[in-house]
This record gives sequence, C-alpha cells and structure tokens, in this order.
Amino acid sequence: MRRFERKQNIFHNKDALGESYRPERIQERDEEIDEYMDALQPVVDGWEPNNVFLYGNTGVGKTAVTEYLLKVLREDVDRYDDIDLHVLSLNCKTLNSSYQVAIELVNELRPSGGEISSTGYPQQTVFKKLYQELDELGGTILVVLDEIDSIGERDELLYELPRARSNGKLEHAKVGIVGISNDFKFRDRLDPRAQDTLCERELHFPPYDAPELQNILESRATVALAEGAYDDGALNLCAALAARDSGSARQALDLLRLAGEYAENRDDEGITRDHVEIAREKLEQERVVEGMRELTVNGHYALLAVVSKAAQRETPCRMRDVYDEYVSLCEKADIEPLAQRSIHNHLSDLRMLGILSAEENRTGSRGNYYSYALDVPFSSAMTALTDVLSLESVLEDIRTTAQRHGIV
Ligand SMILES: Nc1ncnc2c1ncn2[C@@H]1O[C@H](COP(=O)(O)OP(=O)(O)OP(=O)(O)O)[C@@H](O)[C@H]1O
Ligand SMILES: [Mg+2]
Repeated sequence: MRRFERKQNIFHNKDALGESYRPERIQERDEEIDEYMDALQPVVDGWEPNNVFLYGNTGVGKTAVTEYLLKVLREDVDRYDDIDLHVLSLNCKTLNSSYQVAIELVNELRPSGGEISSTGYPQQTVFKKLYQELDELGGTILVVLDEIDSIGERDELLYELPRARSNGKLEHAKVGIVGISNDFKFRDRLDPRAQDTLCERELHFPPYDAPELQNILESRATVALAEGAYDDGALNLCAALAARDSGSARQALDLLRLAGEYAENRDDEGITRDHVEIAREKLEQERVVEGMRELTVNGHYALLAVVSKAAQRETPCRMRDVYDEYVSLCEKADIEPLAQRSIHNHLSDLRMLGILSAEENRTGSRGNYYSYALDVPFSSAMTALTDVLSLESVLEDIRTTAQRHGIV
C-alpha cells in the first residue's frame, strides 16, 4: 500500500495562500486606506466614530484591509490614555436579521456562561440588552459587520444602534458601525433611515487590474512558495486570468494554490503556465457545477440546448434557434417542453451566473435580439451537465458531434 509522505518542494507555507491567512502587508490599496483612515480619524481624536459603509466586488480586499487597519488603529490608539477602544467583529453570513445580529453581539460581550438563547425574546428586549452591555463596556466601540447584506430587509439595528446615544439609550459608550458588503444593491434596498446613518462615510473598493494582482501575488508567493518553485510566467497568467474575469485577489490566489497542487502531485519542479491553465479549467468547472445547483431541471435543459448548438459550431445563436434545439432535446428525453418565454428567463439566469454570454444584435427594422454562446469552456459545461442529467445517449451524441467539429 502507498503511504503518506511529506512533500514540500513547491510550498513553503501553503496556508499563506488560503482564506484564513492575514497578510502582513496590504498592496495596491494606498488610496483606499487613506480614505478609510480619514473615516476612522474621529476615533483617535476622541469623538464619536463615523459609521462607515464599505462595498466592492468579492475578493477585492474589503475584509483584509479592514482587519489590517483596525489592528493598526488599536496599536496607534494605545498611545492615548484617554481613549478606550473596543472592536467587535462579526461576520453576518449566517445571520439573516437584526435580531440575530443583536443576539450574537450580546453573546460576544457577555462572559461565557452568560449567553442568551437565540430565540424567545422580543426584538426590543434584545436591543436593550445590547445597549446595556455596550454601556457597561464603555469607551469607543466599533462594531464591524462583515457581509452585512445577509441581514436582509430586517435592518432596524442599522439605524437604531447609531442613534442609541442621541436617544439617551447609551450613556457611556460611543458606538460606530463599519458595514461591509459585496452586494451593490444592498445599499439601495436599505430602509432610508438606515441608509442615512450607516452610509455616513462610503468607501468603494474597485476590482484589481492585472499589474495590481501581479504585485499582490508576488508578495504572497515569497511567503507561500519555496524558492525557485515558480516562474514569473505562472504568476503573470494567474494575474491576467483573474483580472480579466473578476479583478478578485482571491481568485488569483486560488489559481496559484491549485496550480501549485498540480505541480506538487505530479512531482514537477516548479509551477508553470501549464499548471495554471489546468487550475483555471478546474476552477471554472467548479463554478459551473456550483451555478448548476441553483438551477431547475429546465435550466439544465436550456443550457444543454446551447451546449448542443456549440457542439455543432452554431453559437452564438439566437433565442429562436436555442428554443428549437431545446424542444427537440425535450422530445428525445421525453419531457414536456416549457414555453419560449420561460426558457428565455432560464437563459438570463445562466447569463447572470456567468455560464452563458449574450450579445445584442441590432437589426434596425425588426428590433434587437440577443444571441447566446457558452461563456465557459465546452468541456466544463459538459462535465457539469453529465453530473446533473441522466441522459447518457443524448450527451454521447453531443460529444460525438463536438468531436466531429473539432470542439474537444
Ligand atoms: N491588497 C491586498 N494585498 C494583499 N492581499 C490581498 C489584498 N487584497 C486582497 N488580498 C487577499 O485576497 C483574498 C481576498 O480578500 P478579502 O477576503 O479581503 O476579500 P473581500 O473583499 O472581503 O471579499 P468578499 O466580498 O468575498 O468577502 C484574501 O486572502 C486577502 O488576504
Ligand atoms: Mg470579505
């Protein structure tokens, strides 16, 4: 039997490419950090803190910069004896109302054993307990609510908490909220009162471009990878791919980590562009599979129709043709087809998920129409569909057609 054996020729510290790693230095965010520091300045001056709302796409450094900056703030505030700063950080991912967030905050403030249960109290009672705990702690308190969009429509806490002091509910504590979100619509959906308070200072983190990602990767690679275990070409490609797709540092780091795993598994000496290409394909496949889970069977068939067109080299292809293909696939699978309108909606969903792309064509007299094409590699879509559909013969036909047209 094969036994485990230590392999460390590629990675020096693989954890440094993972999600829980806290980078020592933040690259390429000087302007944003300046703005962020301005927003937090009142804390150092001893005034009531601003409420800050930080937004930007996934993976652009919102959490990393916030953690870094709050650490710096804590250290710097230490020099002033008259400031007593506390930071309460909460990830709201699993908390979908003000009530749940308030309970979590109370329990974070209470000593262990004194926690309250997460059901059974009226909301105002929980808020009152929260104010009590905050007041007991006193000083300046920053409440950091990451992934705050999870709180949804029940956002009362976001306007009640910042007003608690002026409403006489807090005497000793000066509280500021830092809200973080990657959902651009969240701000607009907020209750107007919550919007006014929470968004006192708004900070936007834009996506990274390729040179920025390259720098972030380089500084991470020196910590994470063994010396000589990668070349510039590999980092370059990770940066370029992530910049083109999302501008996310997380995506770039994921590509590099996965490419490193491939190199390691194959006992190769270092990470090359080829390993990055394999990693890219694998990540894309995961994204498609992930996206597919959110779709209904008819969504899968709508995708199958586009895939089938792609196998015949007939994409981009217009709605009417996708629909005809869909109907004929339904016949083969012996299921009742949906109306064209519904399939149109499914195609829009697939487009939102980044699985399809749609191009608008202008025809002048007859109005505009969209033509659809795959926005992921053919093989990724096929693998994902094979996982969710039990349609062996149909999929086999498509595969053969694709081979005949030189697609795979
Ligand atoms: N400017 C940067 N310098 C160094 N590392 C960075 C930088 N920006 C992001 N990273 C790294 O990229 C990864 C993703 O960043 P982060 O978690 O901060 O993203 P986010 O904006 O909070 O995304 P999400 O909205 O998905 O929570 C982390 O590993 C982080 O350490
Ligand atoms: Mg984050």
